[in-house]
Amino acid sequence: MKRALITGVTGQDGSYLSEFLIEKGYDVHGIIRRSSVDYRERIAHLEGHPQFHLHYGDMGDSMGLVQVIRKVQPDEIYNLAAQSHVQVSFDSPEFTADVDATGVLRILEAVRACGLEKTCRIYQASTSELYGKVEEVPQNENTPFHPYSPYAVAKQYGFWIVKEYREAYEMYCCSGILFNHESERRGETFVTRKITLAAARISQGLQDCLYLGNMDSLRDWGYAKDYVECMWLILQQDKPEDFVIATGVQHSVREFTDLAFRYAGIELKFEGEGIDEKGIVVSGPENLIGKTVVAVSEDFYRPTDVVNLWGDPTKAKAKLGWSPNKTSFEELVKIMVEADIAKVASEGAAHKVRMNLAEYLEKGIVK
Ligand code: NAP
Ligand code: GDD
Repeated sequence: MKRALITGVTGQDGSYLSEFLIEKGYDVHGIIRRSSVDYRERIAHLEGHPQFHLHYGDMGDSMGLVQVIRKVQPDEIYNLAAQSHVQVSFDSPEFTADVDATGVLRILEAVRACGLEKTCRIYQASTSELYGKVEEVPQNENTPFHPYSPYAVAKQYGFWIVKEYREAYEMYCCSGILFNHESERRGETFVTRKITLAAARISQGLQDCLYLGNMDSLRDWGYAKDYVECMWLILQQDKPEDFVIATGVQHSVREFTDLAFRYAGIELKFEGEGIDEKGIVVSGPENLIGKTVVAVSEDFYRPTDVVNLWGDPTKAKAKLGWSPNKTSFEELVKIMVEADIAKVASEGAAHKVRMNLAEYLEKGIVK
Protein backbone atom coordinates (compact mmCIF):
# COMPACT_ATOMS: atom_id res chain seq x y z
CA MET A 1 0.00 0.00 0.00
CA LYS A 2 1.48 3.37 -1.06
CA ARG A 3 1.68 6.10 1.60
CA ALA A 4 0.80 9.70 0.80
CA LEU A 5 1.31 12.71 3.05
CA ILE A 6 -0.88 15.75 2.42
CA THR A 7 -0.18 19.19 3.89
CA GLY A 8 -3.27 21.41 3.86
CA VAL A 9 -5.50 18.35 4.27
CA THR A 10 -8.31 20.39 5.87
CA GLY A 11 -8.57 22.68 2.81
CA GLN A 12 -10.80 22.39 -0.23
CA ASP A 13 -8.25 20.46 -2.32
CA GLY A 14 -6.85 18.45 0.60
CA SER A 15 -10.27 16.98 1.34
CA TYR A 16 -10.95 15.95 -2.29
CA LEU A 17 -7.42 14.62 -2.74
CA SER A 18 -7.75 12.50 0.42
CA GLU A 19 -10.94 10.93 -0.93
CA PHE A 20 -9.30 10.34 -4.32
CA LEU A 21 -6.17 8.68 -2.87
CA ILE A 22 -8.13 6.50 -0.42
CA GLU A 23 -10.17 5.30 -3.39
CA LYS A 24 -6.89 4.50 -5.19
CA GLY A 25 -5.87 2.30 -2.23
CA TYR A 26 -3.37 4.69 -0.60
CA ASP A 27 -2.71 5.01 3.10
CA VAL A 28 -3.34 8.75 3.48
CA HIS A 29 -1.70 10.90 6.16
CA GLY A 30 -2.60 14.55 6.63
CA ILE A 31 -1.03 17.39 8.59
CA ILE A 32 -3.39 19.57 10.62
CA ARG A 33 -2.91 22.64 12.80
CA ARG A 34 -4.23 22.91 16.31
CA SER A 35 -7.15 25.33 16.48
CA SER A 36 -9.45 26.51 19.27
CA VAL A 37 -12.50 25.81 17.10
CA ASP A 38 -13.52 22.73 15.13
CA TYR A 39 -12.58 23.59 11.57
CA ARG A 40 -12.33 20.05 10.17
CA GLU A 41 -15.71 20.13 8.46
CA ARG A 42 -14.33 19.10 5.06
CA ILE A 43 -12.63 15.93 6.32
CA ALA A 44 -14.98 14.99 9.19
CA HIS A 45 -16.47 12.15 7.10
CA LEU A 46 -12.99 10.60 6.66
CA GLU A 47 -11.92 10.63 10.30
CA GLY A 48 -11.83 7.07 11.64
CA HIS A 49 -11.34 5.56 8.16
CA PRO A 50 -8.60 2.89 8.45
CA GLN A 51 -6.67 4.46 5.52
CA PHE A 52 -6.83 8.00 6.93
CA HIS A 53 -4.52 9.38 9.64
CA LEU A 54 -3.88 12.88 10.98
CA HIS A 55 -0.76 14.41 12.52
CA TYR A 56 -0.24 17.82 14.08
CA GLY A 57 2.25 20.09 12.33
CA ASP A 58 2.71 23.54 10.90
CA MET A 59 4.47 24.81 7.79
CA GLY A 60 6.42 27.19 10.02
CA ASP A 61 7.85 24.39 12.19
CA SER A 62 10.77 22.60 10.45
CA MET A 63 11.44 20.08 13.20
CA GLY A 64 7.78 19.13 13.38
CA LEU A 65 7.72 18.52 9.61
CA VAL A 66 10.86 16.35 9.86
CA GLN A 67 9.25 14.29 12.66
CA VAL A 68 6.04 13.67 10.70
CA ILE A 69 7.90 12.77 7.49
CA ARG A 70 10.25 10.44 9.40
CA LYS A 71 7.28 8.71 11.04
CA VAL A 72 5.13 8.40 7.91
CA GLN A 73 7.94 7.56 5.41
CA PRO A 74 5.73 8.76 2.52
CA ASP A 75 6.10 7.61 -1.09
CA GLU A 76 4.39 10.84 -2.19
CA ILE A 77 3.97 14.26 -0.56
CA TYR A 78 1.31 16.69 -1.76
CA ASN A 79 2.25 20.13 -0.46
CA LEU A 80 -1.09 21.95 -0.53
CA ALA A 81 -0.77 23.99 2.69
CA ALA A 82 -0.80 27.73 2.09
CA GLN A 83 -2.21 31.05 3.13
CA SER A 84 -4.19 30.85 -0.08
CA HIS A 85 -6.21 34.09 -0.12
CA VAL A 86 -4.71 36.72 -2.44
CA GLN A 87 -6.44 39.70 -0.75
CA VAL A 88 -5.29 38.50 2.70
CA SER A 89 -1.69 38.33 1.45
CA PHE A 90 -1.70 42.14 1.23
CA ASP A 91 -2.66 42.29 4.93
CA SER A 92 -0.34 39.47 6.11
CA PRO A 93 2.55 39.49 3.62
CA GLU A 94 5.22 38.16 5.98
CA PHE A 95 3.09 35.24 7.21
CA THR A 96 2.19 34.45 3.59
CA ALA A 97 5.88 34.40 2.62
CA ASP A 98 6.74 32.15 5.57
CA VAL A 99 4.09 29.54 4.76
CA ASP A 100 3.87 29.77 0.95
CA ALA A 101 7.58 30.32 0.17
CA THR A 102 9.82 29.16 3.03
CA GLY A 103 7.31 26.41 3.89
CA VAL A 104 8.06 24.74 0.53
CA LEU A 105 11.78 24.82 1.29
CA ARG A 106 11.09 23.28 4.72
CA ILE A 107 9.29 20.34 3.09
CA LEU A 108 12.13 19.76 0.59
CA GLU A 109 14.78 19.95 3.31
CA ALA A 110 12.77 17.70 5.63
CA VAL A 111 12.64 15.05 2.90
CA ARG A 112 16.43 15.28 2.49
CA ALA A 113 16.98 15.22 6.27
CA CYS A 114 14.97 11.97 6.41
CA GLY A 115 17.07 10.44 3.58
CA LEU A 116 13.99 10.10 1.34
CA GLU A 117 15.14 12.31 -1.53
CA LYS A 118 15.56 9.39 -3.94
CA THR A 119 12.28 7.65 -3.12
CA CYS A 120 9.71 10.28 -2.15
CA ARG A 121 7.92 12.20 -4.93
CA ILE A 122 6.73 15.72 -4.13
CA TYR A 123 3.84 17.68 -5.66
CA GLN A 124 3.88 21.45 -5.12
CA ALA A 125 0.58 23.36 -5.35
CA SER A 126 1.60 26.17 -7.67
CA THR A 127 -0.77 28.65 -9.22
CA SER A 128 -1.88 30.65 -12.25
CA GLU A 129 -1.36 33.73 -10.06
CA LEU A 130 2.31 33.45 -11.14
CA TYR A 131 1.22 34.86 -14.53
CA GLY A 132 -0.26 37.82 -12.64
CA LYS A 133 -0.08 40.95 -14.78
CA VAL A 134 -0.27 38.66 -17.78
CA GLU A 135 2.24 38.89 -20.58
CA GLU A 136 0.27 36.66 -22.99
CA VAL A 137 -3.19 35.12 -23.32
CA PRO A 138 -3.84 32.21 -22.92
CA GLN A 139 -1.08 31.13 -20.57
CA ASN A 140 0.93 27.90 -20.89
CA GLU A 141 4.08 26.38 -19.32
CA ASN A 142 6.30 28.75 -21.35
CA THR A 143 4.47 32.00 -20.56
CA PRO A 144 6.69 34.38 -18.54
CA PHE A 145 5.72 34.93 -14.91
CA HIS A 146 4.73 38.36 -13.61
CA PRO A 147 3.51 37.85 -10.02
CA TYR A 148 1.21 40.66 -8.92
CA SER A 149 0.53 40.15 -5.17
CA PRO A 150 2.50 39.12 -2.06
CA TYR A 151 0.80 35.69 -2.42
CA ALA A 152 2.03 35.26 -5.99
CA VAL A 153 5.56 36.44 -5.15
CA ALA A 154 5.72 33.84 -2.35
CA LYS A 155 4.36 31.12 -4.64
CA GLN A 156 6.96 32.05 -7.24
CA TYR A 157 9.71 31.24 -4.72
CA GLY A 158 8.00 27.88 -4.11
CA PHE A 159 7.96 27.17 -7.84
CA TRP A 160 11.64 27.98 -8.34
CA ILE A 161 12.92 26.18 -5.24
CA VAL A 162 11.12 23.01 -6.37
CA LYS A 163 12.75 23.34 -9.81
CA GLU A 164 16.13 23.96 -8.17
CA TYR A 165 15.93 20.85 -5.96
CA ARG A 166 14.83 18.80 -8.96
CA GLU A 167 17.98 19.83 -10.85
CA ALA A 168 20.47 20.08 -7.98
CA TYR A 169 19.56 16.85 -6.14
CA GLU A 170 17.69 14.98 -8.88
CA MET A 171 14.60 14.83 -6.67
CA TYR A 172 11.25 13.90 -8.19
CA CYS A 173 9.51 17.15 -7.31
CA CYS A 174 7.23 19.18 -9.55
CA SER A 175 4.64 21.91 -9.64
CA GLY A 176 1.09 21.85 -10.90
CA ILE A 177 0.32 25.37 -12.14
CA LEU A 178 -3.38 25.18 -11.37
CA PHE A 179 -5.89 27.77 -12.52
CA ASN A 180 -8.81 28.63 -10.22
CA HIS A 181 -10.82 25.61 -9.16
CA GLU A 182 -13.96 25.86 -7.10
CA SER A 183 -16.54 23.63 -5.46
CA GLU A 184 -19.25 23.44 -2.85
CA ARG A 185 -16.33 23.13 -0.35
CA ARG A 186 -14.66 26.39 -1.48
CA GLY A 187 -13.79 28.89 1.27
CA GLU A 188 -16.61 31.40 1.70
CA THR A 189 -14.50 34.51 0.95
CA PHE A 190 -13.36 33.44 -2.53
CA VAL A 191 -15.50 35.19 -5.10
CA THR A 192 -17.38 32.18 -6.50
CA ARG A 193 -18.50 30.84 -3.13
CA LYS A 194 -19.31 34.35 -1.88
CA ILE A 195 -21.61 34.70 -4.90
CA THR A 196 -23.31 31.28 -4.66
CA LEU A 197 -23.94 31.68 -0.93
CA ALA A 198 -25.35 35.17 -1.45
CA ALA A 199 -27.59 34.02 -4.32
CA ALA A 200 -28.93 31.25 -2.06
CA ARG A 201 -29.48 33.60 0.89
CA ILE A 202 -31.05 36.39 -1.17
CA SER A 203 -33.44 33.93 -2.84
CA GLN A 204 -34.54 32.79 0.64
CA GLY A 205 -34.89 36.32 2.04
CA LEU A 206 -31.88 36.03 4.38
CA GLN A 207 -29.62 38.66 2.74
CA ASP A 208 -30.44 41.96 1.03
CA CYS A 209 -27.46 42.67 -1.21
CA LEU A 210 -24.19 41.11 -2.40
CA TYR A 211 -21.21 43.52 -2.49
CA LEU A 212 -18.40 42.68 -4.89
CA GLY A 213 -15.17 44.28 -6.14
CA ASN A 214 -13.94 44.09 -9.74
CA MET A 215 -16.69 42.36 -11.75
CA ASP A 216 -14.71 42.63 -15.02
CA SER A 217 -12.04 40.27 -13.74
CA LEU A 218 -11.67 37.16 -15.92
CA ARG A 219 -10.91 33.66 -14.66
CA ASP A 220 -10.56 30.13 -16.00
CA TRP A 221 -12.70 28.28 -13.44
CA GLY A 222 -12.72 24.48 -13.09
CA TYR A 223 -14.15 21.99 -10.60
CA ALA A 224 -11.79 21.12 -7.72
CA LYS A 225 -12.95 17.51 -7.60
CA ASP A 226 -11.70 17.06 -11.21
CA TYR A 227 -8.39 18.84 -10.56
CA VAL A 228 -7.08 16.64 -7.72
CA GLU A 229 -6.73 13.77 -10.19
CA CYS A 230 -4.10 15.85 -12.04
CA MET A 231 -2.05 16.27 -8.87
CA TRP A 232 -1.81 12.49 -8.68
CA LEU A 233 -1.18 12.07 -12.42
CA ILE A 234 1.69 14.58 -12.27
CA LEU A 235 3.46 12.32 -9.75
CA GLN A 236 2.91 9.13 -11.83
CA GLN A 237 4.99 10.26 -14.87
CA ASP A 238 8.39 8.76 -15.74
CA LYS A 239 10.08 12.18 -15.53
CA PRO A 240 9.21 14.99 -13.08
CA GLU A 241 7.74 17.94 -15.01
CA ASP A 242 5.57 21.00 -14.34
CA PHE A 243 2.07 21.21 -15.85
CA VAL A 244 -0.57 23.88 -16.42
CA ILE A 245 -4.00 22.59 -15.34
CA ALA A 246 -6.94 24.64 -16.65
CA THR A 247 -10.19 24.27 -18.58
CA GLY A 248 -9.19 26.60 -21.47
CA VAL A 249 -12.46 28.52 -21.04
CA GLN A 250 -12.71 32.02 -19.57
CA HIS A 251 -15.56 33.92 -17.87
CA SER A 252 -15.94 37.17 -15.93
CA VAL A 253 -17.03 37.59 -12.30
CA ARG A 254 -20.18 39.29 -13.69
CA GLU A 255 -21.01 36.23 -15.85
CA PHE A 256 -20.54 33.95 -12.83
CA THR A 257 -22.84 36.20 -10.79
CA ASP A 258 -25.50 36.36 -13.49
CA LEU A 259 -25.58 32.57 -13.88
CA ALA A 260 -25.52 31.83 -10.13
CA PHE A 261 -28.54 34.08 -9.55
CA ARG A 262 -30.31 32.46 -12.52
CA TYR A 263 -29.84 29.02 -10.90
CA ALA A 264 -31.25 30.50 -7.69
CA GLY A 265 -34.36 31.59 -9.64
CA ILE A 266 -33.45 35.27 -9.97
CA GLU A 267 -32.85 37.03 -13.29
CA LEU A 268 -30.70 40.15 -13.14
CA LYS A 269 -29.97 43.12 -15.39
CA PHE A 270 -26.70 44.96 -14.85
CA GLU A 271 -26.69 48.77 -15.02
CA GLY A 272 -23.94 51.36 -14.55
CA GLU A 273 -20.16 50.98 -14.62
CA GLY A 274 -17.31 50.46 -12.17
CA ILE A 275 -18.17 51.48 -8.63
CA ASP A 276 -21.70 52.49 -9.78
CA GLU A 277 -22.59 49.11 -11.32
CA LYS A 278 -25.69 47.39 -9.94
CA GLY A 279 -27.46 44.10 -10.48
CA ILE A 280 -31.24 44.66 -10.44
CA VAL A 281 -33.85 41.89 -10.29
CA VAL A 282 -35.99 41.68 -13.44
CA SER A 283 -37.70 38.40 -12.69
CA GLY A 284 -37.91 36.02 -9.76
CA PRO A 285 -39.64 36.27 -6.38
CA GLU A 286 -42.30 39.03 -6.48
CA ASN A 287 -40.89 40.90 -3.48
CA LEU A 288 -37.44 41.21 -5.14
CA ILE A 289 -38.50 42.62 -8.54
CA GLY A 290 -36.83 46.00 -9.16
CA LYS A 291 -34.54 45.64 -6.13
CA THR A 292 -30.74 46.04 -6.29
CA VAL A 293 -29.27 42.78 -5.05
CA VAL A 294 -25.71 43.18 -6.39
CA ALA A 295 -23.58 46.29 -5.88
CA VAL A 296 -19.91 47.25 -5.95
CA SER A 297 -17.87 48.20 -2.90
CA GLU A 298 -14.36 49.64 -2.97
CA ASP A 299 -13.58 47.40 0.03
CA PHE A 300 -13.20 44.46 -2.34
CA TYR A 301 -10.83 46.12 -4.81
CA ARG A 302 -7.21 44.95 -4.51
CA PRO A 303 -4.09 47.17 -4.54
CA THR A 304 -3.02 45.20 -7.66
CA ASP A 305 -5.48 42.82 -9.28
CA VAL A 306 -4.94 39.93 -11.67
CA VAL A 307 -7.66 40.35 -14.28
CA ASN A 308 -7.03 38.07 -17.26
CA LEU A 309 -6.31 34.44 -16.37
CA TRP A 310 -6.93 31.93 -19.13
CA GLY A 311 -5.07 28.63 -19.20
CA ASP A 312 -3.90 26.47 -22.08
CA PRO A 313 -4.03 22.82 -20.91
CA THR A 314 -2.57 21.34 -24.13
CA LYS A 315 0.42 19.70 -22.38
CA ALA A 316 -1.73 18.15 -19.62
CA LYS A 317 -4.14 16.77 -22.25
CA ALA A 318 -1.30 15.24 -24.29
CA LYS A 319 0.96 13.91 -21.54
CA LEU A 320 -1.40 13.21 -18.64
CA GLY A 321 -4.32 12.16 -20.84
CA TRP A 322 -6.42 14.50 -18.76
CA SER A 323 -9.76 15.86 -19.92
CA PRO A 324 -10.07 19.51 -18.85
CA ASN A 325 -13.80 19.77 -19.48
CA LYS A 326 -15.18 17.01 -17.29
CA THR A 327 -17.38 19.51 -15.48
CA SER A 328 -18.43 22.55 -17.53
CA PHE A 329 -18.63 26.10 -16.19
CA GLU A 330 -22.44 25.87 -16.21
CA GLU A 331 -22.39 22.57 -14.29
CA LEU A 332 -19.90 23.96 -11.76
CA VAL A 333 -22.07 27.01 -11.01
CA LYS A 334 -25.16 24.79 -10.76
CA ILE A 335 -23.46 22.35 -8.34
CA MET A 336 -22.35 25.22 -6.10
CA VAL A 337 -25.69 27.06 -6.12
CA GLU A 338 -27.70 23.91 -5.45
CA ALA A 339 -25.41 22.97 -2.54
CA ASP A 340 -25.72 26.45 -1.03
CA ILE A 341 -29.48 26.58 -1.47
CA ALA A 342 -29.68 23.30 0.51
CA LYS A 343 -27.20 24.53 3.13
CA VAL A 344 -28.96 27.86 3.66
CA ALA A 345 -32.36 26.11 3.81
CA SER A 346 -31.13 23.64 6.45
CA GLU A 347 -29.39 26.37 8.44
CA GLY A 348 -32.50 28.49 8.14
CA ALA A 349 -34.41 25.63 9.79
CA ALA A 350 -31.73 25.23 12.46
CA HIS A 351 -31.82 28.99 12.98
CA LYS A 352 -35.59 28.80 13.51
CA VAL A 353 -35.13 25.99 16.08
CA ARG A 354 -32.55 28.14 17.90
CA MET A 355 -34.91 31.13 17.77
CA ASN A 356 -37.78 29.04 19.15
CA LEU A 357 -35.56 27.62 21.88
CA ALA A 358 -34.43 31.11 22.83
CA GLU A 359 -38.07 32.20 22.98
CA TYR A 360 -39.00 29.22 25.15
CA LEU A 361 -36.02 29.86 27.44
CA GLU A 362 -37.04 33.49 27.77
CA LYS A 363 -40.55 32.46 28.71
CA GLY A 364 -39.17 29.93 31.20
CA ILE A 365 -40.78 26.98 29.39
CA VAL A 366 -37.52 24.99 29.17
CA LYS A 367 -36.02 24.37 32.60
P1 NAP B 1 -7.51 26.30 1.21
O1 NAP B 1 -8.87 25.72 1.15
O2 NAP B 1 -7.31 27.70 1.67
O3 NAP B 1 -6.63 25.33 2.16
C1 NAP B 1 -5.36 25.72 2.62
C2 NAP B 1 -4.84 24.66 3.56
O4 NAP B 1 -3.54 25.06 4.04
C3 NAP B 1 -5.72 24.45 4.81
O5 NAP B 1 -5.75 23.08 5.13
C4 NAP B 1 -4.95 25.23 5.87
O6 NAP B 1 -5.16 24.76 7.18
C5 NAP B 1 -3.52 24.91 5.46
N1 NAP B 1 -2.54 25.81 6.07
C6 NAP B 1 -2.49 27.16 6.00
N2 NAP B 1 -1.45 27.63 6.72
C7 NAP B 1 -0.84 26.54 7.26
C8 NAP B 1 0.29 26.38 8.12
N3 NAP B 1 0.99 27.40 8.56
N4 NAP B 1 0.63 25.12 8.48
C9 NAP B 1 -0.09 24.05 8.06
N5 NAP B 1 -1.17 24.15 7.25
C10 NAP B 1 -1.53 25.38 6.86
O7 NAP B 1 -6.79 26.18 -0.20
P2 NAP B 1 -7.15 25.25 -1.47
O8 NAP B 1 -8.08 26.00 -2.34
O9 NAP B 1 -7.48 23.90 -1.02
O10 NAP B 1 -5.76 25.26 -2.23
C11 NAP B 1 -4.77 24.26 -1.97
C12 NAP B 1 -3.42 24.76 -2.47
O11 NAP B 1 -3.49 25.01 -3.87
C13 NAP B 1 -2.94 26.05 -1.85
O12 NAP B 1 -1.53 25.97 -1.75
C14 NAP B 1 -3.32 27.12 -2.86
O13 NAP B 1 -2.46 28.24 -2.75
C15 NAP B 1 -3.10 26.36 -4.14
N6 NAP B 1 -3.94 26.76 -5.27
C16 NAP B 1 -5.29 26.81 -5.16
C17 NAP B 1 -6.06 27.14 -6.26
C18 NAP B 1 -7.57 27.19 -6.18
O14 NAP B 1 -8.17 27.77 -7.09
N7 NAP B 1 -8.19 26.60 -5.18
C19 NAP B 1 -5.43 27.42 -7.49
C20 NAP B 1 -4.05 27.34 -7.57
C21 NAP B 1 -3.31 27.00 -6.47
P3 NAP B 1 -6.33 25.37 8.13
O15 NAP B 1 -7.57 24.64 7.73
O16 NAP B 1 -5.82 25.03 9.47
O17 NAP B 1 -6.40 26.84 7.85
N1 GDD C 1 -12.49 37.29 -3.13
C1 GDD C 1 -13.16 38.22 -3.85
N2 GDD C 1 -14.19 38.89 -3.27
N3 GDD C 1 -12.77 38.46 -5.12
C2 GDD C 1 -13.49 39.37 -5.83
C3 GDD C 1 -14.57 40.08 -5.29
C4 GDD C 1 -14.95 39.83 -3.95
O1 GDD C 1 -15.87 40.41 -3.40
N4 GDD C 1 -15.08 40.89 -6.26
C5 GDD C 1 -14.35 40.72 -7.35
N5 GDD C 1 -13.37 39.81 -7.11
C6 GDD C 1 -12.32 39.39 -8.06
C7 GDD C 1 -10.90 39.50 -7.50
O2 GDD C 1 -10.44 40.85 -7.56
C8 GDD C 1 -10.16 38.56 -8.45
O3 GDD C 1 -9.78 39.27 -9.61
C9 GDD C 1 -11.21 37.52 -8.81
O4 GDD C 1 -12.49 38.03 -8.38
C10 GDD C 1 -10.99 36.15 -8.15
O5 GDD C 1 -10.77 36.33 -6.76
P1 GDD C 1 -10.74 35.09 -5.74
O6 GDD C 1 -11.95 34.25 -5.90
O7 GDD C 1 -10.45 35.64 -4.38
O8 GDD C 1 -9.55 34.19 -6.27
P2 GDD C 1 -8.08 34.54 -6.79
O9 GDD C 1 -8.10 34.30 -8.27
O10 GDD C 1 -7.61 35.84 -6.29
O11 GDD C 1 -7.20 33.42 -6.08
C11 GDD C 1 -7.60 32.05 -6.11
O12 GDD C 1 -7.12 31.42 -7.29
C12 GDD C 1 -5.70 31.36 -7.42
C13 GDD C 1 -5.39 30.69 -8.77
O13 GDD C 1 -5.42 31.63 -9.78
C14 GDD C 1 -7.03 31.37 -4.86
O14 GDD C 1 -7.56 30.08 -4.74
C15 GDD C 1 -5.51 31.28 -4.92
O15 GDD C 1 -5.05 30.48 -3.82
C16 GDD C 1 -5.13 30.59 -6.24
O16 GDD C 1 -3.72 30.51 -6.36
